Amino acid sequence: MMTEKKASLLSPAICEHIDRWILRYPPEQKQSGVFEALRVVQDAHQGSLTVELMDAVADYLGMPNIAVYEVATFYSLYFLQPVGKHIINLCTNLPCRLRGSEAALEHFKQRLGIDVNETTPDGQFTLKEVECLGACISAPVCQMGKKYYDNLTPEKIDEVLNGK
Ligand code: FES
Repeated sequence: MMTEKKASLLSPAICEHIDRWILRYPPEQKQSGVFEALRVVQDAHQGSLTVELMDAVADYLGMPNIAVYEVATFYSLYFLQPVGKHIINLCTNLPCRLRGSEAALEHFKQRLGIDVNETTPDGQFTLKEVECLGACISAPVCQMGKKYYDNLTPEKIDEVLNGK
């Protein structure tokens, strides 16, 4: 049973969205909607999840809390710490590394004045290292929001950051 406090963490619009989403699955497998439920809850709470929010999702979907934590901690699209407005996911897997992702990473760090997994003091950028983004042909690659930026050079990174 969902407590009133937990229920208040999920707005009627979020619940409606989750309800629509889980119609895609057999009723006994509504937990399959956990990915989308976490995404929509995260988006509605400044881009990150708290234990309370994950617990509310678990209650709503009738799942053990631990099963929701497992999903939220495994996938790099969920954030358990506050993040910036723009999340820079820089691929540092081998093909990108061979094509200069280390230099790109250093340039991002220097330009933003932060390390990996940190957020700029103005709350604009969070820097993340991620696994292969599936765009190795254009390495080195980073993703910001829904957009990919490829063949990264220091000049291109400056251009991207200046445009935000
Ligand atoms: Fe970087 Fe595949 S290794 S996109």
